[in-house]
Amino acid sequence: MDIRFLGHAAFELSDGSTSVLVDPFLSGNPKAAVAADELNPSTILLTHGHADHIGDTVDIAKRSGAPAVAIVELANELSEDGVEASDPNLGGTVELDWGWVRLVPAWHTSTTPKGTVNTPAGLVINFAGKTIYHLGDTALFSDLQLVAQRDQIDVALVCIGGHYTMDRHDAVTAVELIAPTTVIPCHYNTFPPIETDAEAFKADIESSTGATAVVLEPGETHSA
Ligand code: NI
Ligand code: MN
Repeated sequence: MDIRFLGHAAFELSDGSTSVLVDPFLSGNPKAAVAADELNPSTILLTHGHADHIGDTVDIAKRSGAPAVAIVELANELSEDGVEASDPNLGGTVELDWGWVRLVPAWHTSTTPKGTVNTPAGLVINFAGKTIYHLGDTALFSDLQLVAQRDQIDVALVCIGGHYTMDRHDAVTAVELIAPTTVIPCHYNTFPPIETDAEAFKADIESSTGATAVVLEPGETHSA
């Protein structure tokens, strides 16, 4: 299973036939690795409705026919915009042809560009025999360990940029709580307020946790 970092918090998971797209913020993203019209996902998953996460969801979904999965208030807005959307809430698991996704808590705020208030989530994704945890935008909080208590996490996609989320230091503690096999940092260096040192994060992860950190440039792929 391939995990392609598309820039900021956007990732594409693929197994050769199915493609799962998360938080496709590409238009207006100075670090975008691809244009929105290059993607043909099977499903689009959203952590929350901030502009840097909902991104090009409506355009990609309408062109490709891919359904979306998002927390209920956000799913309702997508439905009004003509997107087929599944509408779980926190704690809910959605079964899909290719696996499942569970919405778990994240400590953050969110209003969409259109004004819909929505509660941010993390996403635990089971795909191609692997469990991937996209933390979404979040501060550090101790219940992260409960997420990993239920599902052994193979790959954690962790925000490290600070300012809008936890910074790289709190992200190390988050990784200690989650105990994944592999960590891929995201949500940094896209804009000046979230500039940080990903190589220093990698060094801290590998000296103080059992995880391996993989720093991807936008466009690069990690095979899990
Ligand atoms: Ni956000
Ligand atoms: Mn964000």
